[in-house]
Amino acid sequence: MKSELILTQDGSHTLFVPEIDECYHSTFGAMGESMLIFIQSGFNSCEKDNISVLEVGFGTGLNAFLTLLEAENRQKEVFYTAFELFPLAVEKAEQLNYPEMFSPDKRFFFEKLHTSAWGEEVPLTPFFKLLKINADFIVSSLPSVYDLIYFDAFSPEKQPEMWTQEIFQKIFDHCNENAILTTYCVKGNIRRSLQKTGFIVEKLPGPPGKREFLRAVKPSNSEFTEK
Ligand SMILES: C[S@@+](CC[C@H](N)C(=O)[O-])C[C@H]1O[C@@H](n2cnc3c(N)ncnc32)[C@H](O)[C@@H]1O
Repeated sequence: MKSELILTQDGSHTLFVPEIDECYHSTFGAMGESMLIFIQSGFNSCEKDNISVLEVGFGTGLNAFLTLLEAENRQKEVFYTAFELFPLAVEKAEQLNYPEMFSPDKRFFFEKLHTSAWGEEVPLTPFFKLLKINADFIVSSLPSVYDLIYFDAFSPEKQPEMWTQEIFQKIFDHCNENAILTTYCVKGNIRRSLQKTGFIVEKLPGPPGKREFLRAVKPSNSEFTEK
């Protein structure tokens, strides 16, 4: 998939994909969007000390990088599984300014996120182990159970097949109790699909340029029957 590097309003890069006329992140600020939706409202809301993360759409590695930094800060052990169907060329990933924006001394780890082998569990730091899976998430089975899901596919308008009840059910069935799913999408039909699956869903105030986003939690001891 061809993509072009562009600057977003908070100075961080994103990629624009002409083929589908869509960016990987909000043009109002890629870094700000990831920090609020995935780190502050997802990772930092997880109370466990060992967190198993599933990312749907590894892309630029921004969410993985911010999670690695936060895992170090908070001394939490993270096992990070990320699916990606169209991996970025390493040369393209090296042009992204995320280390400079956030933690220049950690550039080595950002590069490692991209150069690490696919399909292998790779310990990158004492707190962060990575498993990247180069496969179509829609047809893949999930290799583990998760405490935290970063649902970061392209939008439902551009990729409706990623936002179905079946996909959410597959995720729900591989979630531990109290697992959290966050996503930038707030559309009514997506919220209802998540609810129908069994998640408790709330809308939270969004980053610049976006009024709200969704956080969903798998209830403990749920005896959910509506399907
Ligand atoms: C909105 S971008 C976000 C990527 C990433 N989270 C980031 O911060 O850069 C969506 C990502 O999902 C990937 N993707 C699209 N369809 C997929 C599929 N069927 N299975 C796995 N990944 C997919 C795209 O290639 C892209 O990297």
